[in-house]
Amino acid sequence: MAGAQEYKLGAFAFPRGWFMLGDAATLEAKPTTLHFFGKDMVFYRGQSGKPHLVHAYCPHMGAHLGKNSTSYVVRDGEQVQGESIRCPFHGWRFGEDGKCDDIPYSPNFIPKSACLKTYPVIERAGIIWMWHDPEGGQPDHELPAFAAWDKQDEGWVRWVIDDFGTLPIHQIEIVDNMADYGHMSPIHGSLDCQYFDNVFDGTKIIQRFDAGHRTLTDASSPVLSLDTWYEGPGILQSEMHGAFPSHMLIAHTPVEDGTVRLWHALMVKLPKADPSAEDLEMARAFQVASRDALAQDVEIWANKEASINPMQIPADGPYGKVRLWYRQFYNPREEAAATHKRIDGTVITFGEKRPDPIAA
Ligand code: FES
Ligand SMILES: [Fe+2]
Repeated sequence: MAGAQEYKLGAFAFPRGWFMLGDAATLEAKPTTLHFFGKDMVFYRGQSGKPHLVHAYCPHMGAHLGKNSTSYVVRDGEQVQGESIRCPFHGWRFGEDGKCDDIPYSPNFIPKSACLKTYPVIERAGIIWMWHDPEGGQPDHELPAFAAWDKQDEGWVRWVIDDFGTLPIHQIEIVDNMADYGHMSPIHGSLDCQYFDNVFDGTKIIQRFDAGHRTLTDASSPVLSLDTWYEGPGILQSEMHGAFPSHMLIAHTPVEDGTVRLWHALMVKLPKADPSAEDLEMARAFQVASRDALAQDVEIWANKEASINPMQIPADGPYGKVRLWYRQFYNPREEAAATHKRIDGTVITFGEKRPDPIAA
């Protein structure tokens, strides 16, 4: 298992960006322990349902805010009040800004330093997302909109979350996939590639790919057109222009430096809103096919050794440039503009001109 230092990613052990924490349906109101970025954190919902994410340990004397079932604070249902969370040990309570707002046995004195670290979190498209920044700054790029989630009236069927669990691999090897032209045929069954390129654009990287496929295409639509892009280091989306338009998500979040949790999801646009049970079944079957395609990559990732320096040949995609792009998230944000200036642009790996360009 190799970490950020072995891959020479930069100053930080973990990247800056928006990251998935989990399926919103499974993250309920009760304080829940989460472990990402080598840190213990506690997720809870305020009484309004609003999600909150805080450091797991109380600044008073270090009690765990999420691992308690026997304190009367927890048994009496007094742990979450309004948007605040109360520690099970001495009952100190912390507001959504992290500041202590009540010490039951000290009505007149609350130390200014009694503050719990909080992390920005957003619930969107059925998923809880957090902003992680080793420099402690506010987001410097937006969380994607996942607009199709709210377009059920146009025939979009919402995704369900496929959880691939934690893989013993650094996420850079998942991001490498953006340049990995050579695995498309052996792993995924792509046929007769027509075009493959990568566009580097600030915090975004795009892959445009057109090819046939052993099972996903037929005589009526022989070419599968894919636009795939990262917005930031941990959120991949892909639009497949085949028999039905679909919108795929692959999200990955570091657990420790060298291990990563991986999720997949897919929304499909059916020809009509108000789908029948049969239509819905077909949309689900699309998601299963897409999940199974990712599982082909996952089997490789789960069993490979670290590739610190890929042995790149001229016919490969631009692995080196993808890794340069990825390094921006492991270094101070003030250095990112210089990286963009250096690498922004298009690299064509196969073909000359995209046959039927579709904007990502
Ligand atoms: S350790 Fe949390 S209130 Fe004392
Ligand atoms: Fe792949």
